[in-house]
Amino acid sequence: MFVWSGNNKTMAKLTSSTTHGVLLLHLCLLLLHIFSPALSLETTKLRGSCLASERDALLSFKEGINYPAGRLLSSWEGQDCCRWRGVMCSNRTGHVVKLDLRVYPEEFQWTSMSSDISPSILALERLNYLDLSFNDFGGQQIPKFMGSFKNLKYLNLSNANFGAWLPHLSSLKHLDMSYVNLSAAVDWVQALSMLPASLRVLHLSNCNLNATLSALPVYSSNLTSLVTLDLANNDFHGPIPDGLLGNMTSLEELWLGSNDLVGMIPETMKNLHKVKVLDLSQNQISGDIAKLMERLPHKIQSLSLWANNLNGSLPNWIENMTSLSTLDLGYNSLIGPIPSGMGKLTNLSYLDLRSNHLVGKILEDQFTSLTRLEMLDLSNNSLTMEVHPNWIPPFRLKVVYLSYCKLGPHFPAWIQSQTNITILSMSSARITDKLPNWFWNVISQIRYLDLSLNEISGVLPMTLEFLSTAESIILHSNQLKGRLPKLPMGLLYLDLSRNYISGPLPLNLGTVELSYLLLSNNLINGTIPSSLCNQLQSLEILDLSNNHLSGQLPQCWTSGNSFRAKSDRRDVGCYLVIAHFYNNSLSGKFPLFFRGCQQLSFLALSYNNFFGNLPAWIGTRLPNLVFLLLKYNMFFGYIPIKLSKLDHLQVLDLAHNNLSGTIDPSLVNFKAMTLTSLYTSDLHTYAAGIVENIDGYSDPFSLFVITKGQILEYQSDKIFFILSLDLSGNSLTGEIPEQIGALTGLKNLNLSANRLTGNIPETINGLLSLESLDLSNNELFGEIPPTLSVLTFLSHLNLSYNNLSGRIPSEGQLETFLDPTIYIGNSNLCGPPTSKNCSGDQTTMSDLPEHEDGYDMSSFYLSMGLGFAMGFWMVFGTLSFKRTWRITYFLFVDDICDRIYVFMVLKWARLNARIKKK
Ligand SMILES: *[C@@H]1O[C@H](CO)[C@@H](O)[C@H](O)[C@H]1NC(C)=O
Ligand SMILES: *[C@@H]1O[C@H](CO)[C@@H](O)[C@H](O)[C@H]1NC(C)=O
Ligand SMILES: *[C@@H]1O[C@H](CO)[C@@H](O)[C@H](O)[C@H]1NC(C)=O
Ligand SMILES: *[C@@H]1O[C@H](CO)[C@@H](O)[C@H](O)[C@H]1NC(C)=O
Repeated sequence: MFVWSGNNKTMAKLTSSTTHGVLLLHLCLLLLHIFSPALSLETTKLRGSCLASERDALLSFKEGINYPAGRLLSSWEGQDCCRWRGVMCSNRTGHVVKLDLRVYPEEFQWTSMSSDISPSILALERLNYLDLSFNDFGGQQIPKFMGSFKNLKYLNLSNANFGAWLPHLSSLKHLDMSYVNLSAAVDWVQALSMLPASLRVLHLSNCNLNATLSALPVYSSNLTSLVTLDLANNDFHGPIPDGLLGNMTSLEELWLGSNDLVGMIPETMKNLHKVKVLDLSQNQISGDIAKLMERLPHKIQSLSLWANNLNGSLPNWIENMTSLSTLDLGYNSLIGPIPSGMGKLTNLSYLDLRSNHLVGKILEDQFTSLTRLEMLDLSNNSLTMEVHPNWIPPFRLKVVYLSYCKLGPHFPAWIQSQTNITILSMSSARITDKLPNWFWNVISQIRYLDLSLNEISGVLPMTLEFLSTAESIILHSNQLKGRLPKLPMGLLYLDLSRNYISGPLPLNLGTVELSYLLLSNNLINGTIPSSLCNQLQSLEILDLSNNHLSGQLPQCWTSGNSFRAKSDRRDVGCYLVIAHFYNNSLSGKFPLFFRGCQQLSFLALSYNNFFGNLPAWIGTRLPNLVFLLLKYNMFFGYIPIKLSKLDHLQVLDLAHNNLSGTIDPSLVNFKAMTLTSLYTSDLHTYAAGIVENIDGYSDPFSLFVITKGQILEYQSDKIFFILSLDLSGNSLTGEIPEQIGALTGLKNLNLSANRLTGNIPETINGLLSLESLDLSNNELFGEIPPTLSVLTFLSHLNLSYNNLSGRIPSEGQLETFLDPTIYIGNSNLCGPPTSKNCSGDQTTMSDLPEHEDGYDMSSFYLSMGLGFAMGFWMVFGTLSFKRTWRITYFLFVDDICDRIYVFMVLKWARLNARIKKK
């Protein structure tokens, strides 16, 4: 079984093995709607008469069981308990011999009620089979009386939320204790050594076992009849001990994945003649792959070594391992070519060599006899596929991952014979061809399709909607033309960004399930039809940026009005997290479209023709906004004060609108901008999700920010490093509020081209992370505050075209700005780098500026401390804004950021030195 998001290796692996990942397993099974018939329940309809004592025992046992959904045990009624679900009696004696209360995925429900095992169950003397897996026993210890079942041969207590203790049961053949936390057991090593010699199957995966393998008594004791040993997902460490495996000659399956085992496998491994399955994945097994393979038992069928540290190249004599059906060597450091011997493995059905350093050509030879191959993953190597255009492969693949293999320039014709494909990933395969006509018919069973980052041309077929199994279609960065056709009904993920898709959006998308709709950088025009509203109800990410869309956005989620929301039954929620409409020709007032979108984190309407006031509800109804990008529109009026309620806001870009009024002090209250550490949010998870979903490679989801006078492109996860406040190019009046100094984390502040007056506030030194400050083209006056010079990260400054006066401070960071154009248009500024001399410039001590109202050096440094501490206070919100600075705050500084601490102390030392000199 494979999970559609092929990138998620772990998940796919976990779900393909029955022993790992209980929660994932549950979720996946539920999600994928796999309804396996509860076979065991059928077996209960046998004849046989129930013993009254056993019936009573079962009934009191039932009392303690809060069975999920309560369904199974509700059939426990009537006299003949042998007919109850999950109960099986002996035909001969009428005794209950089997109790199967396993919870099957389709019955699974999260309940808060846990169960108890009543000792009454002991009355079932002849019980030989007990399965309580996937129930919830609330973490309690496995009751000691369970050790009294003398006849028990099969015991499955896995995934049942039991605490430690291994039962000592003398007849046991099959024991499954997976997900039982055994680390709390007094001495699990000893408990293991007491397991009976009759044991055939032992599952102890996910039991928190922490030891070296040589400490395991299973090697030294008489567990020589073990057929299956499963110790996956524990903390076993060190090498696999030489010689100890030798005794376990009955072993057929050995599961040791997800531990910390190191080194090469021992030579004695070869003596385990019966071993068919060996899983050592996700360890740190190292050494030469050829040497390792020499030590494998001859009849091995399934070898899983993915995510280890193996190196060397695959030997050609691999052709002798004719029993191999599964070979998984992904995520190692293998080099060299794929040997042609590989093509002789007639039983091979699963071949995974992903993410190694393999080179060379893939020829027909390597596949000659692979008639059973169903899953092929060669992605992320440096392989080039060179097969004859008429080649008809001997196999019918279901899963194909060939990303970053060179398959082009022609579209691989051999795909035409692969009509069973459900997953096809050929991203970055250097295909520069037209999509062949047969393609869409061949992939009629596709679930996951990724052909991104090629130069594939052609149009999307109008029959796309008939790909009824499709969940993800990822075709970004190609040269596809034509209109967006109606989509498959179950489609969850569509990425057609960076193509030449044109024409309007369809009136009917054909799906209501879509979560990701990424259409950026195309030629789509027309309006967004309101008929799409109820089809977008599952949408989380909508990227329509860089198209030619016009008109108003439809009013989709009118639920903004909570009063109506309750009465309107048709009302659907909005799950949008990212809404990207950058650079279209959209118009109208600020779209009501978003009013019900509580989750919205990223909203970009920049470079459109929106107008009108910015509504106050942005601040209250979109509490999760991290990015609000409205640049280059025609919004007018005041900036609503309620915006300051956006606690997570990291980038506010309102540049080039017609906004007026003052910058209200409360406006600079954005909590996120007061944090100097990287601010992570839900959006981070989402963006990381986008990136991951694309087969492990990053989608060109990016954000342009103008800072330091340049347009910088931030891609994907990098966007979380931006903290920017850009209000430039509006008609804002009044003074810059001194509270701005609280935005300790801010990196870019641009207030240029407004009509701001007053002084540059001295608190500017609070902007400790500032890299770019542009206050040009305003009506600011007074002196440049010397506090500005403490901003050590400042690399871009522009104060031109104001009415600033006095000496330009030449202290600290300001020393590094030599370009006089950053000061031009201020006729009363003097001193370097301007050519104008300040009057009375003779004294040598003049490099520290004097303030008009007795601003001396110590108050300068005091205010520096204030600015700094202020940012700190805002972070924790415990101290108020205007407090006297105290040296003790430096101690806090130390915890946050050594760099600042060092800087401050240096300054302090220098100051002291200077004061003494005076
Ligand atoms: C009971 O008898 C049925 C057939 O009558 C048989 O299929 C089943 O295996 C028997 N069960 C046991 C426990 O012997
Ligand atoms: C500030 O904004 C103006 C106008 O939007 C722009 O021209 C300038 O480059 C920006 N300044 C910086 C330092 O990025
Ligand atoms: C510039 O500031 C000076 C005082 O520093 C004032 O006299 C003058 O009127 C101002 N000029 C403008 C254009 O605002
Ligand atoms: C500062 O801004 C002025 C006016 O916008 C511009 O002419 C000058 O080149 C800018 N200086 C720098 C270094 O960006």
